[in-house]
Amino acid sequence: MSADPQMRSEFTPENARKRPKSSVPMAELHCHLEGTVSPVMAMRIGARHGLDLGDVIDGDGHYRWANFAEFLDIYDRMAAAICTPEDYYDITYDYYSKVAQSGVIYGESFVSPDHAIQHGISYQTLIDSVSRAMQQAERDFGIVCRIILIAVRHYGVEKAEKLADLAHKHPHPFVTGFGMGGDEQFLWPHDFAKAYAMASDAGLGLTAHAGEVCGPESIRDTLESLKVSRIGHGVRAIEDDALMAELRDREIILEVCPGSNIALGVHPDLAAHPLRALVDNGLRVTLSSDDPPFFHTHMQQEYEQAQSVHGFKDADLLRFTRTAIEGAFCDADTKEKLLSRLNA
Ligand code: ADE
Ligand code: ZN
Repeated sequence: MSADPQMRSEFTPENARKRPKSSVPMAELHCHLEGTVSPVMAMRIGARHGLDLGDVIDGDGHYRWANFAEFLDIYDRMAAAICTPEDYYDITYDYYSKVAQSGVIYGESFVSPDHAIQHGISYQTLIDSVSRAMQQAERDFGIVCRIILIAVRHYGVEKAEKLADLAHKHPHPFVTGFGMGGDEQFLWPHDFAKAYAMASDAGLGLTAHAGEVCGPESIRDTLESLKVSRIGHGVRAIEDDALMAELRDREIILEVCPGSNIALGVHPDLAAHPLRALVDNGLRVTLSSDDPPFFHTHMQQEYEQAQSVHGFKDADLLRFTRTAIEGAFCDADTKEKLLSRLNA
């Protein structure tokens, strides 16, 4: 893969189109739909609704935040500007058409109905808008996409259970997973056990953010009480050998987002990131960008830096993609087709 440092500073449609396409096909399991919106796009959408996002975006055109709590706050305030079904269609199509052109063949997106409902957008309208945009991106660029419903931890247990109930009542072929993000220090994973059991009952694959801000105990509690097959981040498993052995034995997939971890201060820099150590310990690791413009990253950069900083070869990068597809929440037939694209 080629690395062009000049392209690393910002993820914009222009940059994505200027970069040579990745030679290794990529697959992304961990990406927040609202978190894909670039400051330029946020301003454009804000302008549609007469909103001034000046307190969210600084004079250099970057999101304005300095720590995890501020990031979550700015994230919510930016997401509040996305307030019509058309906005949701546009941000979905914008992101997936861009990353498809950079070499991503499969993407799962965390979609937060709790954000949309604040604007009176019903669950079904939201899912319809996002899934139509995903289908259009597939028709135009061949990328396959699916939706993971995401509960926001600091919005509480009741909202998470309501979300799982909605999934139960309104099954949709593009809604294939259930996850939880937000403030990891708010409540415990086991508090959400009922929501996860309901989501599992609705046939959804399960993942949860853990071991990002909080330590190994958050991953243990997630494994024990939420019955997930994947962990969002999970990087702090590196602090606990027995936990790593358990993750390895249970073949749990980690959705690792190095750029996000550095930006949020989970690790001081890429060289200190445990990506290599997690792989060397036999864990099933994938690479994602989380909230790309917030963290000044994007998928191609994540793959390139795994190579340039951690010494992974193209075959190793392909393994990240294969693992992502194996752990994806789409149906078996879709997985087979995606895996055959890797073998081609
Ligand atoms: N919501 C959006 N991005 C997130 C992250 N990195 N961690 C927790 N919640 C999030
Ligand atoms: Zn995340």
